[in-house]
Amino acid sequence: MARILTGIQSSGKPHLGNLLGAILPAIELSQDEKNESFFFIADLHSLTTIKDAQTRIDNIYSVAAAWIACGFDTEKNLFYRQSKVPAVCELAWYLNCYTPFPMLANAHSFKDKSEKLADVNAGLFTYPVLMAADILLYDANYVPVGKDQKQHLEMTRDIASSFNHQYGETFVLPEAKIDENLMTIPGTDGQKMSKSYGNTIDIFQTDKKLRKNVMQIVTDSTPMEEPKNPDTCNVFAIYKILGTSDQVAQMRNNYEGGNYGYGHAKQALYELIVERFSEVREQYDFYINNIPELEKKLQAGEQRAAVIANEVLKRVRAKIGY
Ligand code: TRP
Repeated sequence: MARILTGIQSSGKPHLGNLLGAILPAIELSQDEKNESFFFIADLHSLTTIKDAQTRIDNIYSVAAAWIACGFDTEKNLFYRQSKVPAVCELAWYLNCYTPFPMLANAHSFKDKSEKLADVNAGLFTYPVLMAADILLYDANYVPVGKDQKQHLEMTRDIASSFNHQYGETFVLPEAKIDENLMTIPGTDGQKMSKSYGNTIDIFQTDKKLRKNVMQIVTDSTPMEEPKNPDTCNVFAIYKILGTSDQVAQMRNNYEGGNYGYGHAKQALYELIVERFSEVREQYDFYINNIPELEKKLQAGEQRAAVIANEVLKRVRAKIGY
């Protein structure tokens, strides 16, 4: 049985790009009988940038509702909020004292963030140590992450192996699992769909707003009657990912045949999204309107996580004299 662990950023309501590019592939991985998945909402990491309490609470619930709505099995696996197992803070402190300063000072993501953000706080600086604690606290074997997190995983391994070297086997050395074939989902302007570009499609909103959102996809001004090139069109780029091969072939024909406007294509995409995600959207609405149900699932995961975390922490304390 391999233990897979990953942290989910809680930076807002998940959009179509998050669903297709991250949530659904991760859930698929978790369905393998041989895997046991620990997925947690990294709500302590979010404090490095998000300071408003209500924003934090809303973000956590919408992320949790989305993962559960998409079918993540919280009984076979573990689903929890990082902050609800505070043992991670204790371990992070210990690990801080085994992390060489230059390792953190040279981290790419810290350098990037410290150039971009106005608030360059110490939490941002020690972010990789808390992340190492997240992973080592649960004896994780594999950590699926994006390419941008590769260096953080190397730091985790470095910290863990130097500790093991000094005190004998204590931590399991985790391996990064970087999926090179993960697709990037294009947004309404054709760039990668991302909240920071303002080009997302939010599937968790009313039909009316969702339709309006789809209608915002940027297209050129080829007149309705003229044939169009599907391969340079932002509507087709998204349709292609969601549709069956028949649907996609049909739309390609429509584009190339003329007398088919971008408005028609957008309407078809909207209908496809509504059809494909009807159950997911319904479930999301259920949980977001029934927070106690969501809490029940989270708290059950948090109790199970705490048991494992406390055992590992005990092992660490014994080694260093606490
Ligand atoms: N830093 C990760 C990201 O930005 C989120 C994260 C926090 C994480 N702790 C983790 C990922 C532990 C994997 C394992 O996406």
